Amino acid sequence: MDSIVITGNGPLNGVIPIAGAKNACLTLMPATLLTDQPLTLTNAPRLSDIRTMSQLLGSLGAEVASLQDGKVLALSSHDLTSHRADYEIVRKMRASILVLGPLLARYGHAVVSLPGGCAIGARPVDLHLRALEAMGAQLDLREGYVHATAPGGLRGARFRFPLVSVGATENALMAATLAKGTTILENAAREPEIVDLARCLMRMGAQIEGAGTSTLTIEGVSSLSGATHAVVTDRIELGTYMLAPAIAGGEVECLGGRLDLVQAFVDKLEQAGVEVVETSRGLKVSRKTDRLRAVNVDTEPFPGFPTDLQAQFMAAMCAAEGESVLQEHIFENRFMHAPELMRMGARIDVHGGTARVTGVDQLRGAPVMATDLRASVSLILAGLAARGDTVVSRVYHLDRGYEHVEQKLGACGARIERITGS
Ligand code: UD1
Repeated sequence: MDSIVITGNGPLNGVIPIAGAKNACLTLMPATLLTDQPLTLTNAPRLSDIRTMSQLLGSLGAEVASLQDGKVLALSSHDLTSHRADYEIVRKMRASILVLGPLLARYGHAVVSLPGGCAIGARPVDLHLRALEAMGAQLDLREGYVHATAPGGLRGARFRFPLVSVGATENALMAATLAKGTTILENAAREPEIVDLARCLMRMGAQIEGAGTSTLTIEGVSSLSGATHAVVTDRIELGTYMLAPAIAGGEVECLGGRLDLVQAFVDKLEQAGVEVVETSRGLKVSRKTDRLRAVNVDTEPFPGFPTDLQAQFMAAMCAAEGESVLQEHIFENRFMHAPELMRMGARIDVHGGTARVTGVDQLRGAPVMATDLRASVSLILAGLAARGDTVVSRVYHLDRGYEHVEQKLGACGARIERITGS
């Protein structure tokens, strides 16, 4: 297993290109299942999660060609051979459940393994299933699989999500595009990835109103066509790299960055003493104070502060002046980075969904272990500000969501190196 060694060495200066969004791409790819025409995605990120989704779609008989060094994905579901998503692939990545809605909508049946729990919590898929049931799906859960049928096809329905779920909104939205009649999804997620999916589906001929609001209205059509669509910028990768100069000092321009993707996060950065300026190419970030100021954060669905940036923000708060309170409202077990940060000298007190961080003058390098995707990058960020070497092991988590981390940070002057196979 690879590890990454970071040696804190002061301010970072340079330019970091931000990739297309992993989470958008993971819902755009299964949209291929809705049509027999080709779907081409540009600005795709080069990540292991994307390869896992390609493998899953391939196992159904879809063609997935990775072009231009992986930045373009050419997908076709002309001749599917299977409607069964196997546990062996689904267990690797929860987003695999996103094939359920499209398969059911186009073919009237699908068998998809239940994903099970994951490191950050139980993460059930009940809302995905309830939304599809509201559209007339008949579901049978046995031997760890959802056996779904919709003999006469899915029907439009009104469904109110009892809580906001990104994945369930995506599954229901895709299914509704081919359902008979009108579907109204209330309390829908408003994340930019949902807007991106809706844009792509509309290019394919879907009739959708309200993307980016909490009510989505979908008028079902009998078939969808192909399309070419550029994946939206990854706001989580963007926020992560915006934190690099905030933590280490210096000035970094994140290419492709947009304020509207990260406004709640930027508000907190600014309160902490970081300057963010919109440029013609993206967002330029610099720290304006010697030390960051402590800021409190509550994670919320979009447009609130994203849970996927909580670990990275905590890394920044570890060396800030004062005490910050971070409240995690989305996932029940998402502070596993805290004990690892404490190995680097951070002072953190976790009680349930609340973490109190008391900033220290100086973090110290230490061997630490990545426990999930965002936790692993938070340890790298902390390493940028630590004295000595930080060795982050189990970086396969990192590779699920960040491409070329060493090159991107290294180009700004960070001392960061991957050790293969240790
Ligand atoms: C997506 C993102 C993930 C992000 C999360 C929240 C992808 C591939 N992943 O995950 O990076 O952290 O949004 O922004 O896009 N829930 C239920 N029942 C369900 C579904 C969800 O109770 O059927 C709960 C979850 O356990 C969680 C909350 O709802 O507590 C929100 O989860 P959800 O928005 O569905 O997250 P994902 O789509 O899995």
